[in-house]
Amino acid sequence: MTNDIIKIENLRRDFKVGSETVHALRGISFSIRAGEFVTIMGTSGSGKSTLLNILGCLDTPTSGDYYLDGIAVRDMGKNDRATLRNRKIGFVFQSYNLLPKTTALENVELPLLYNPAFSSRERREKAMNALNAVGLSDRINHRSNQMSGGQQQRVAIARAIVNDPVILLADEATGNLDTRTSFEILTLFQRLHAEGRTIIFVTHNPEIAQFSSRNIVLRDGHITEDTINQNVASAKEVLDALPKEND
Ligand SMILES: Nc1ncnc2c1ncn2[C@@H]1O[C@H](COP(=O)(O)OP(=O)(O)O)[C@@H](O)[C@H]1O
Ligand SMILES: [Mg+2]
Repeated sequence: MTNDIIKIENLRRDFKVGSETVHALRGISFSIRAGEFVTIMGTSGSGKSTLLNILGCLDTPTSGDYYLDGIAVRDMGKNDRATLRNRKIGFVFQSYNLLPKTTALENVELPLLYNPAFSSRERREKAMNALNAVGLSDRINHRSNQMSGGQQQRVAIARAIVNDPVILLADEATGNLDTRTSFEILTLFQRLHAEGRTIIFVTHNPEIAQFSSRNIVLRDGHITEDTINQNVASAKEVLDALPKEND
């Protein structure tokens, strides 16, 4: 047994667009161990979302192997993959992807509805715990459209961790947020990491690499850098040094 949560080998993903083929991933290999906080960085179009969607079992590679928590994803059918995704992966998107006009509590309970192991009472309890973990216990009955972007992203993060996934994946999770709110969300990710969670955080913003423990750089579907950060900066310290808002 190793404690590799993710292992990919020579992953390729081609997209056919009309008569052309786009090589979004051109043979990518790496392993990610439990407890790492990995940023995946690269300019727009470098293949970050394509990679994250495969890691999140939302998409399948054209070729290559993917092992999630020791399980060969390639051999699985669509339904098994969906179940695997639901149980093992938490996904956070740039645009939050919450149900509109639905309360924070209901949004966070959603992933648990697919799991018959939990009663409605257990669902509620787990959702409350997750909302508490992201600092929103006083907003559980607020609807998505009554919340700020930062609050909506916290709800999305609570939804991503409610199932206690083996890995938390984020695609440009701070991309829609102002500087201060971005650092609040980054501080939250660092806290979740400190509590033992494994995180992959995709971003085009090179500044974010200083807050992760490892940085992988993608360019034109290749990995060009894969470095360990020995000197992780504190997002909380940056946040505390930012000027407060006027209101
Ligand atoms: N569904 C798709 N169909 C066709 N081309 C795609 C699709 N998804 C991504 N691509 C192409 O693959 C390349 C990588 O895209 P993407 O992974 O979204 O990059 P990033 O997230 O780094 O901006 C781009 O050239 C993009 O146009
Ligand atoms: Mg992208």
